[in-house]
Amino acid sequence: MNQDTIAVIDLGSARTTDLARAVRALGVYTELHPHDLTAEQLAAIPNLRGIILAAGPRRAFEGQTLDLSQPLRDAGLPTLTVDDADATQPDLDAFIARTGAKRNWNMDNFIADQIEAIRAQVGDKKVLLALSGGVDSSVVAALLIRAIGKQLTCVHVNHGLLRQGEPEQVVKVFREELGANLVYVDAVDRFLDKLAGVADPEQKRKIIGAEFIRVFEEEARKLDGIAFLGQGTIYPDIIESGTKTAKAVKSHHNVGGLPEDLQFALVEPLKMLFKDEVRACGLALGLPESMVNRQPFPGPGLGVRCLGAITRDRLDAVRASDAILREEFTAAGLAGKVWQYFTLIPDVRSVGVREGVRAFEWPCVIRAVNTIDAMTATVERLPWPLMERLADRITHEVPGVNRVLFDLTPKPVGTIEWE
Ligand code: XMP
Repeated sequence: MNQDTIAVIDLGSARTTDLARAVRALGVYTELHPHDLTAEQLAAIPNLRGIILAAGPRRAFEGQTLDLSQPLRDAGLPTLTVDDADATQPDLDAFIARTGAKRNWNMDNFIADQIEAIRAQVGDKKVLLALSGGVDSSVVAALLIRAIGKQLTCVHVNHGLLRQGEPEQVVKVFREELGANLVYVDAVDRFLDKLAGVADPEQKRKIIGAEFIRVFEEEARKLDGIAFLGQGTIYPDIIESGTKTAKAVKSHHNVGGLPEDLQFALVEPLKMLFKDEVRACGLALGLPESMVNRQPFPGPGLGVRCLGAITRDRLDAVRASDAILREEFTAAGLAGKVWQYFTLIPDVRSVGVREGVRAFEWPCVIRAVNTIDAMTATVERLPWPLMERLADRITHEVPGVNRVLFDLTPKPVGTIEWE
């Protein structure tokens, strides 16, 4: 990394991550470190120019005697002792000026640095990547293609639980536009056969996860000479995994635990980026807006929105209603504003009437929520005319649906997904 660095040391502030992001927004690269960082570890941080001590009431280190004076004295660097919510942007700006750190943290420099680092790590070897089409795996793919081109093989497993147009978009963007080596695996029948008759949500998740690994492994074994596995690990994955330093990374975070016996070394070029930086990186690499600014989408996909035992006709209804919802949210200017919105189809039917004939069909439930961290969520207040339009379109355009309901439940008590 050619960037100058400011270390943010977590002494229990609830704002540690915000501080790190705020300094990056001012153009200087930051790293988060735990309160028990040793003088040696501090000295090992490349191009370290300053230290921010993020203290606060959370007391992550409660019960321990904290004496950072020696490591900090040894480091001999400008230090900002921040008390919780007090450091304003001008304070941080002035502190950066005091450290003399170069303000060269930006996506162009990040991409150039990572291309160099990836080439140095990989050499002339080959890298394999599970490309789901989600933001993180897509951005890693684009970065690896830029760095090593055809030495990367991407495997896209279509398990039949993706949203409308997603598998096609992956093929179009990565194979046709970016010229990637892309293995597209149509595993739809295989997944749906395995899931047939399984109504328990946890059982469904397990089947989807295990089958994904099986398909991916099969494809990996068909390829010769793979030495590395690309991973879309990002900085919040590392921070949230509770590991103490960025070096002791939990390695299989994003692919739901690929088996150890695959024996690949990892390439994780996004592991120091926050989510908004990952999106900026994707845009800088030429990925389409619609791919980079996607709302969160669960690993088991539409499988947990086709409630109970999955059937193909109800799955089609989930996919079609979700597509209408996304289209209407985009038209109403809500697409980038509401955190997560989707439809689900319960496994019940009710009586309705369609063109004078009894229609015994499913309801479609709309969920639209806002949250910071997905631990709690509030319900978006949708404009009534939009709700009426959604009810009209979904009941007329989605076969098998005769009612539209809106879920008014915040989290808690309801979780965001229904399963
Ligand atoms: P809940 O339903 O727990 O959802 O309130 C919180 C967030 O997590 C997503 N979610 C999942 N993501 N695998 C995932 O990768 C899962 O099994 C899963 N279940 C829920 C959900 O979409 C929401 O963003």
